[in-house]
Amino acid sequence: MFSGFPLFPDQASTMAGEVDALYFFLIAITLFFSVLIAGLIVYFAIRYRRRSEVELPEPITGSTKLEALWTVIPFLIVMIIFGWGAKIFFTLSRPPSDAMPIYVTGKQWMWKLQHLEGQREINELHIPVGRAVKLVMSSEDVIHSFYVPAFRVKADVLPGRYTHLWFKATQPGEYHLFCAEYCGTKHSGMIGKVVVMEPADFQAWLSGGPPAESMTARGQRLFQSLACHTCHKSDGTGRGPVLNGVFGKPVALQTGQTAIADDNYLRESILNPGAKVVAGYQPVMPVFQGLINEDALSQILAYLKSLAPQPAVQPGATAVQPAVPPATTQQRRNP
Ligand code: CUA
Repeated sequence: MFSGFPLFPDQASTMAGEVDALYFFLIAITLFFSVLIAGLIVYFAIRYRRRSEVELPEPITGSTKLEALWTVIPFLIVMIIFGWGAKIFFTLSRPPSDAMPIYVTGKQWMWKLQHLEGQREINELHIPVGRAVKLVMSSEDVIHSFYVPAFRVKADVLPGRYTHLWFKATQPGEYHLFCAEYCGTKHSGMIGKVVVMEPADFQAWLSGGPPAESMTARGQRLFQSLACHTCHKSDGTGRGPVLNGVFGKPVALQTGQTAIADDNYLRESILNPGAKVVAGYQPVMPVFQGLINEDALSQILAYLKSLAPQPAVQPGATAVQPAVPPATTQQRRNP
């Protein structure tokens, strides 16, 4: 619709049309009232001009009806804008459950992206058309902002926590990626592109190049090398809680409160484990803040998310868990 009109980027995601519709509604409302008010000012200035030095205007007593009218009409209009905006906001802030996760790290001044399959990219993001993609984003230094105008999505990328962004591309092509938060000297150079491909081409791209180790496998290696597995045993006999199937589930804390084990909870529990200790466990885990970088953190996270839930274990039970994947069992036996 706007391809020949350089003011507007392509509409290349499922949300683009909806965002634009609201935008044009706002423009139309603003234009309507601007013209109406400007026109009335000019009209009244002429119509009610003072015609002689002694002319006195009729006193105005006010009108409750008129007051009510110009209160109710703007109220209804802003409620439409609010409801419409909230609907789009909720859609944008709730990624579909089948969305493909991609991990994004912003740093002065580049975008680093990791696919679950292991491919890593810098300032380029390859995605398939017609598939929901969910970005899990964090920053290594200052605040950045991930902005793809053609998708009509933008979200701040913050140090010290994860933020999320999701979209579903609707047409193959290359689209601009910008950093939309002033982040230092070379902020304007912190740009890249999103390459939207046909699913078959995307699969070919994924499997091209040198074979990459998946994020889950990298995360599992870190889990071993950092000795996480010595306490977080999958059979519940370790000094730390069982992590299998914990992602997305509520966790009872020592304080009596409950937390949801989402990206940010797991992140905090790795970097600063004393912050939210799970009920029934001692705060004995070492602090990993400053010891692992964003890439490693996201790999561990990908690994934790991949762990299948374990059958319920009685406290103190020593039964061997049958649900451990063979690879995991084998690696656990290795010294
Ligand atoms: Cu990063 Cu601006």
